[in-house]
Amino acid sequence: MPTWGLLFLLWTAAGASQEAMRDCPAPCSCRSLETMGLHVDCEGRGLTALPPLPPGTRHLLLANNSLRSVPPGAFDHLPQLWILDVSQNPWHCDCGLTYLRLWMKDHMPDSLQDVLCASPARAAHRPLNQLTGYQLGNCGWQLQASWAQPGFWWDVALVAVAVVGVALLAGLLCISTESLG
Ligand SMILES: *[C@@H]1O[C@H](CO)[C@@H](O)[C@H](O)[C@H]1NC(C)=O
Repeated sequence: MPTWGLLFLLWTAAGASQEAMRDCPAPCSCRSLETMGLHVDCEGRGLTALPPLPPGTRHLLLANNSLRSVPPGAFDHLPQLWILDVSQNPWHCDCGLTYLRLWMKDHMPDSLQDVLCASPARAAHRPLNQLTGYQLGNCGWQLQASWAQPGFWWDVALVAVAVVGVALLAGLLCISTESLG
C-alpha cells in the first residue's frame, strides 16, 4: 500500500509539473519550484511585450529584453509572484509605468533602483525609484476618475444650489437695506 501511495504522489507531482510546463509562455523556459509555483525565465529573449504568464508564476525573470512598459494590472492574476527581475530593459518612464512602480514598491522596494529609464528625456538614465510623480507625468487619471463618478454631479448640483442661495440672500439684504435707507 505505501508503494501505491508513493506512486500516486509521484503521479500528481508529475501531473502538476506537466501542467506548469504546458502553460509556459513560448519564448521562455520554465521549471517547477520545490516550494510550489513556477520559475519562469524570459531573460534575453528580445521581448517587446510581456508574454502571457501562468497563474502559478513565482519567479519571473525579464532582464535584458526590449520592454518599454507593463500594462496596468499585469501581475494582478499572479498572487504567488515573489521575485521579479526587470533590469536591463529600455523602460519608458511616464505615467504608464505607475503600475509597475507601485507593484515593486509594495513587493520589492529595494529592486526599484535597478529599473533604469531609457526615455522620455526628463527621466533618461535615472532609476525608477528616484522619479517623483510629477516627473513620471500627470495623465489626468484623478480628474477623469472624479468626473466619471456619479457623486461628482451631486456635488456640482449642491454647489450650484448654494451659490444661487447666497445670491438670493445677498439680493434680499440689498433690498432690505435700500428700503431702510
Ligand atoms: C542579452 O540578450 C541578448 C539576446 O537578446 C544576448 O545576445 C546577450 O548576450 C544578452 N546580454 C546579457 C548581458 O545577458
